[in-house]
Amino acid sequence: MSAIKGKKCTLITRRLILWVVLTNIMLLLYCLTNPSQVKMRGSQQDTCPLSMKEVLKKNVSSPSHSMSEVCSPKVNIMFMKTHKTASSTILNILFRFGEKFKLTFAFPDGRNDFSYPSPFLCSQVKDYRPGDCFNIVCNHMRFDHQEVAKLLPPDAVYITILRDPVDLFESSFNYYHRAVPLTWRINGENKLVEFLNNPQTFYSPEAFNSFYLKNLLFFDFGFDNNLEGDDPRVMRDIHKLSKRFNLVLVAEYFDESLILLKDTLCWTMEDILYFKLNARRSSSVSRLTPELRAKALQWNGADWRLYQHFNNTFWARVEAYGRKRIKQEVEELGRRNAEMEAICIQHGGAVEAQNIHNSRFLPWQPVGESSILGYNVKENIDPKFREICEKMLTPEIQYLSELGVSLWLTRLWGWFKDAVFSF
Ligand SMILES: *[C@@H]1O[C@H](CO)[C@@H](O)[C@H](O)[C@H]1NC(C)=O
Ligand SMILES: *[C@@H]1O[C@H](CO)[C@@H](O)[C@H](O)[C@H]1NC(C)=O
Repeated sequence: MSAIKGKKCTLITRRLILWVVLTNIMLLLYCLTNPSQVKMRGSQQDTCPLSMKEVLKKNVSSPSHSMSEVCSPKVNIMFMKTHKTASSTILNILFRFGEKFKLTFAFPDGRNDFSYPSPFLCSQVKDYRPGDCFNIVCNHMRFDHQEVAKLLPPDAVYITILRDPVDLFESSFNYYHRAVPLTWRINGENKLVEFLNNPQTFYSPEAFNSFYLKNLLFFDFGFDNNLEGDDPRVMRDIHKLSKRFNLVLVAEYFDESLILLKDTLCWTMEDILYFKLNARRSSSVSRLTPELRAKALQWNGADWRLYQHFNNTFWARVEAYGRKRIKQEVEELGRRNAEMEAICIQHGGAVEAQNIHNSRFLPWQPVGESSILGYNVKENIDPKFREICEKMLTPEIQYLSELGVSLWLTRLWGWFKDAVFSF
């Protein structure tokens, strides 16, 4: 009996030691790859908007927007990719659109995010030189409007997506808890329940990766995630965002969101076809009781106010667009997605990670488990659909690679993570 216990202990110790080593190596790598945060100041043209202005100034005689009635597809886009909000599916849409029109992306270097959770800096963009202009910025970052604005033409459209903070919290907790040391000392079957019953005992704002456990949306947008919901600074920050973002999507109304996106960007239905990427297997989703939901809401009070504010603006947009019109288009989108599913996907749906035959379509998995579903491409696919099917089914990491982003740091981390948790 005690031998078994001893064995279990050494296993835990081994894991712990490995974790410490691993975390240190990652932190070291992280510091090495985080470019020194030099403020680049120089000529008047050291940002995209200014260098664009120079170009425009020279053409004073060029006819002004006489064709403004006709809408042409918007190509300059800032998509603020929030965590655990179905944003991977939107990313796939943006990648496909960018490829179609040969747009330039501002990509990170060596990894799939802009040195998250450090605040965004232009110097994190691969091959960035002051004055450079890009069409699309869409990788994970901790938002900083002033920095992002330096990369994009002045007409760039700012978009983001939110999700019910309770579900987001649950998802974030389950996905990241092994990467948040605060949760390691929570005992019991259901760590999430233990945490919600007594968050103050387990939480500390300064602890490593603690932002994954409180107001993650607020954190992603660059605000203080430790504000309480009734703090006046919360509404102030929300109003700042509502001035910056042209469209805020809501994950709970994903198809309606895409129709509004299509309308805002003057895109076609074809541009927004999608398969749900990065979904979890349903057994790894915790169902919270109404009491726990209430606790999670209170704990994430700032995110809750943020969500409510933009849920209201979202439905005002739907109203303005026309409820009947949007309903019809949502139906059309559903029909066309189903068509694509029949064309592209083996056995018509998502499968567990271990049943995905081609690693190109295997999505990234959280630390210590493989709960994220993926797809197999149909074997006898009609050749004229092969390319679009493959693109629609390619997970974020692989798609980034195909677009030329080096991901050595992300891959190294993946390799470590699998090595530690596979015994
Ligand atoms: C301005 O003129 C330059 C050079 O003639 C041209 O390359 C550029 O496309 C023009 N820009 C606009 C906005 O018309
Ligand atoms: C979001 O808005 C819709 C429409 O007004 C409403 O039915 C729904 O309850 C709202 N959701 C939340 C969480 O407030």
